[in-house]
Amino acid sequence: MSRIVGYKTPFMKKTKIKKPYEGHEIAYRRMRKEGILVWGQKGSGTSGKSCHPETNSFLKDVLSQPWAPKSGRAIELGCGTGPILRRVCKRGFSGFGIDVSKTAIAMAKEQSKGLDIKFLQGDVCNLNTRHLGKFDLVIDGLCLHCITETKDRRAYLDNVFKILKDDGLFVLLTMCGPMDKKRFYEACKGHRIVKKVIYVPFEDKSYGRLVKFDGKYYLPTRYISHWKDILGEVRRAGFELKLIRYNATNSKYFCGTLTVGALKEKPGGCRKTGGS
Ligand SMILES: C[S@@+](CC[C@H](N)C(=O)[O-])C[C@H]1O[C@@H](n2cnc3c(N)ncnc32)[C@H](O)[C@@H]1O
Repeated sequence: MSRIVGYKTPFMKKTKIKKPYEGHEIAYRRMRKEGILVWGQKGSGTSGKSCHPETNSFLKDVLSQPWAPKSGRAIELGCGTGPILRRVCKRGFSGFGIDVSKTAIAMAKEQSKGLDIKFLQGDVCNLNTRHLGKFDLVIDGLCLHCITETKDRRAYLDNVFKILKDDGLFVLLTMCGPMDKKRFYEACKGHRIVKKVIYVPFEDKSYGRLVKFDGKYYLPTRYISHWKDILGEVRRAGFELKLIRYNATNSKYFCGTLTVGALKEKPGGCRKTGGS
């Protein structure tokens, strides 16, 4: 029998979709077993860049801007085991972290004892935004590139807009194109890219949105769009872009990273999302 995701908390909307976006759970279970604390840490077998110096230096730069909040409520969407949130909370914010992986949330709680941070398992595309309240700082913890469907990306950015205070700051950290497909196929053998979505071979039918190619099942795991398109998505969601940093493919990686600091656009702007 297939499992239906049902987060028993007022912070999430009810959903009937089977395990959407829960593929990371498998990696976190392995990380926990092997004593690896954060996504992207050497030996984790993950290719994320959560501990990457780029992320840390961007956070430092964006939070020191005159228009950035200096304290208050911070939330990280796709917080994993919480390294970014812990860094931010040490600067004077109280924290809230949401991640779709149950194991990541358990690990985040263990690693954040004594800090003013709450963690919750849930899907960031399906938030009950009224229950969460408003935040001075909303951080996308390298989560947007994990959201592969256009309507979900809209719902997610719409949720960000709803939970951000009018004078709050949205910090986006994401993988982006252009991609180096040669490097991709060397590094990710057996994976496929179709219309900017990366698919990995997958057998467990209890996961939602599996796709069949040549008789085999695949799970969509990443959406790597061009950095200019991502900026367009963020603008259409109602944000004014204040600080943008794009790093093209570095070392042996197959794509770049985009880091953005954005404020809510003043009334009369180009906000166009529908969503939740
Ligand atoms: C690249 S990892 C980064 C984790 C963490 N921010 C860090 O820096 O270590 C992306 C995270 O997004 C989470 N994620 C992906 N899709 C999600 C969704 N729809 N809702 C909530 N979390 C999601 C994954 O479980 C994963 O922990």
